[in-house]
Amino acid sequence: MREILPDTAREVSGRLEIGGLPAGELADRYGTPLVVLDRATFEARARAYGKALGADHVFYAGKALCCVAICELLAELGLGLDVCTGGELETATAAGFPTENIVFHGNNKSSAELQQAKDFAVGRIVVDSLDELDRIEAIGATSDLLLRVTPGVEAHTHEFVQTGQEDSKFGFGLEGGVAMDALKRALQLKACNVVGIHVHIGSQIFEMSAFDLAVKRLATFLARARDELDFTAAELNLGGGLGIAHNEDEMTPDPVGSWDRIRAAVEREFKANGLEVPELFAEPGRSIVGSAAVTLYRVGTIKKIPGVRTYVSVDGGMSDNIRPALYGARYEAFLAERMDAPKGPRVTLSGKHCESGDVLIHDVHLPADTAVGDLVCIPATGAYTFSMASNYNRVPRPAVVMVWNGEAIEIVERETDYDLLRLDRRLDGSSLT
Ligand SMILES: Cc1ncc(COP(=O)(O)O)c(C=O)c1O
Repeated sequence: MREILPDTAREVSGRLEIGGLPAGELADRYGTPLVVLDRATFEARARAYGKALGADHVFYAGKALCCVAICELLAELGLGLDVCTGGELETATAAGFPTENIVFHGNNKSSAELQQAKDFAVGRIVVDSLDELDRIEAIGATSDLLLRVTPGVEAHTHEFVQTGQEDSKFGFGLEGGVAMDALKRALQLKACNVVGIHVHIGSQIFEMSAFDLAVKRLATFLARARDELDFTAAELNLGGGLGIAHNEDEMTPDPVGSWDRIRAAVEREFKANGLEVPELFAEPGRSIVGSAAVTLYRVGTIKKIPGVRTYVSVDGGMSDNIRPALYGARYEAFLAERMDAPKGPRVTLSGKHCESGDVLIHDVHLPADTAVGDLVCIPATGAYTFSMASNYNRVPRPAVVMVWNGEAIEIVERETDYDLLRLDRRLDGSSLT
C-alpha cells in the first residue's frame, strides 16, 4: 500500500494520517467524498521532473487537476503549465501564473480562446490543425508555435501499438506528407515563430520503448523538414504519459531514470540524422499529481446477495471518479480508520449514482465486518478524477483539501445545493433567487 499512498501517509494505531492530519478528522471537518491532496508529494514529484529536465522545461498538464491553488504552487516551484481550454487558461491567470510559461493545447481551440491566448501573451501554442493556423493568422497571435504531430505510435500501460495511419483527432500525421505540408504552412505565418514539434503518445506508460520508436520517427521527419524546408526544431516537447501505480501490482517509474533514457534516444536518433539535438520538454500530469491525493468516502449501505456478491456503497462514485466506468481503471481501497483490520472476502465498492455501471472497484478485499459509517480511502486519485467530476444526478462536486505539515487548506470548496441551482431558470426564464 505504501507505494500508492502519498509520501506523508502514516498508519497511527490503525488510523490513516496524511500530511500530519488524521483522515477521520479531515472527513469530519470537510465532509465526504473528500479529495485529500498531499502538498509534500506533489512538490516531490514536481521537483523530480525539475531534476530530470529543468523546472522551466516541465509543463504540468492542467487537465490532470487544475485549480487556482495548484497553479500558484506550480509558479512557486518554477514549473510551466499546459492548458487545453480557455477555462484552464483563465484559472492560471486568476492565479497570477506567468503566462510566458504556458503551453496552450487543444484540437479545437476557438477563435475566442486563441484571442485569449494572445491577450494573455501565452508563451507557446501547440498547433493542431490547418483550421487553427487560419485562426491564428486571422487573430494575429504572436506566441511561439509548436506543431503537434502524430508519429503512429500509441502507448498505454505496458504495451504500445504502431498505428500505420495515425488514426487520431489530434495533430498532423507524419505519413503522406500531412505534417510536412502543415509545417510549411505554419512557417509562412509572419507573426509567429515555429520553435519546434510536439508529440504525446499516450497515458499510463510503463514501457519506455514506445518513446524510442516515436523519437526515431520524429528524427526522420525532422531530417526531411531540414532538407525540404530548411527547418530546425529548437524544441521537442514529448508530452506526458508516464504511468503511476494505482494498485499493489504496479510500480511507479522514476521520472529521472525514464527521462534519462528518453534523452539518450533523442541524442542517438538526432545525431544519427545529422540534426542538432533540440531542447527537451515534457507535460506530465498524472505522474505529478496522481499519487499525491486520496479520496475519502463514507459507507452508506451494504447489500449482501448470498452466493453472488456484496455491494458496499459509498457516498460518491462516478461523479467524482469516472475513470473506472470510462476506462476500466483499477484502484485499491481500505478502511482509513481500521487499517489494521484483517482483510475479508472480496466485495464490490459501488457509488451512489442511479447507474449500474457506477462501480468504483469491482473486487476489493475490505474487512469482513465493514459497516455503515466506515471511512473508505481510495489512493492514487489525484489525476483525472476531480478534473473530470460532474454533477450527474445533481450531486455536488466534492471539496479538495491540501494538507501540509499538520495543516489543511480547502483549496476547492464543496459545491452546495445553491451551486447546483444557481444557473437554473424557471419556465418563464426568471431566476430562483
Ligand atoms: C497533450 C497532452 N499532454 C500531456 C498530457 C498529460 O498526460 P499524463 O497525465 O498521462 O502525464 C496529456 C494527457 O492526455 C495530453 O493529452
